Amino acid sequence: MPLFESLYKALTDRINQGNYRKLKSSDGFLDFFSNDYLGLSQKNIFLNSPQSKGSSRLIAGTTNNHLIAEKEFAKHFRADCSLFFNSGYSANIGFFSSIPTRDSIVLFDEYIHASVKDGMRLSLGKSVRFRHNDIQDLERLLKKFSDKNLLIVIESLYSMHGDIAPLREIIDLARKYDAFLFIDEAHAGGVFGEFGEGLTSNELLQGINYVKLITFGKAFGSHGAVILSNQLIKDFLVNFARSFIYTTALPDYIVQQSLANVKSDNLKELQVKLQKNIQTFRSLVKNKEYLKSSEISPIQIIQLESLEKLKQVEEQLIKEKIGVKAIYAPTVPKGEERLRISIHANHKKEDLMRLGVGGF
Ligand SMILES: Cc1ncc(COP(=O)(O)O)c(C=O)c1O
Repeated sequence: MPLFESLYKALTDRINQGNYRKLKSSDGFLDFFSNDYLGLSQKNIFLNSPQSKGSSRLIAGTTNNHLIAEKEFAKHFRADCSLFFNSGYSANIGFFSSIPTRDSIVLFDEYIHASVKDGMRLSLGKSVRFRHNDIQDLERLLKKFSDKNLLIVIESLYSMHGDIAPLREIIDLARKYDAFLFIDEAHAGGVFGEFGEGLTSNELLQGINYVKLITFGKAFGSHGAVILSNQLIKDFLVNFARSFIYTTALPDYIVQQSLANVKSDNLKELQVKLQKNIQTFRSLVKNKEYLKSSEISPIQIIQLESLEKLKQVEEQLIKEKIGVKAIYAPTVPKGEERLRISIHANHKKEDLMRLGVGGF
């Protein structure tokens, strides 16, 4: 089939399946759709700092601020080292395309983020999925591949499900089978933990080899991401992670803003406000059976009885200028289409009550 014809056909298929993606402005909406859980994205304090070095990190793109920030991130999150990537997406691509070897088996939760899957496509290692949050299935695979070098990949808080991984059990399995653990804390970073380290404290992770991803574009209200690791992994990434090497570095002011937001002295207060808003939101939902997410998650999932009902509720909310996002297949499995509502620390009770026009 000629190229344009096949592109046209793929797009027409999407329209027919009802999952065609279109860009729309989010301006003017009451924000229940962004990941700005703590409301930290509202201020930008480093705009006077230079725009860009116009270069990749290994040429002229590394500044003193990058180096200082990487040390500070490591110190703040109690890690040996940190490496700053332009986004969480490029951090996951860089890690998974470079670190697994031909002898690696990467066991990943079936609902893991697309960036991990895309990284694995470029990897020498073999990847095998386990059922979502299913410890027995994970252990079955750990036993099956016990002669290989094993890597387990999870999110601590799942972005499209708003549920939390059974962290203690997975860490115990990593210890028992001597597997390396990768924890993507993209949605839990900032929202949880004494230092905003997410749901996995250093104490919890004791005695295993692990790497953590913390992103700054969500609760930390900035841009970029760090991989927290030991020196060996960091050195390896600097040398082999192509999404780190072959791209223009982010400007200083973004790195500085990310660091300032991570060190916010009102983090605890914002975390408490956010949890209070989550509880208020849940108490306002009339039919509790619709609630599918964890009761402490800023990502609240409403699963209605049918796809038609979901479309109708989404339309109604959008008409009222309430910004929520319905998530359709293939992002979630068919039959599990849902409304994803992102609760923020700076929502007011009246904001939360306005969601009532959705009728759930
Ligand atoms: C679980 C997870 N990991 C990584 C990313 C990528 O992070 P970033 O938005 O910084 O590219 C996302 C973004 O949505 C995510 O949900």
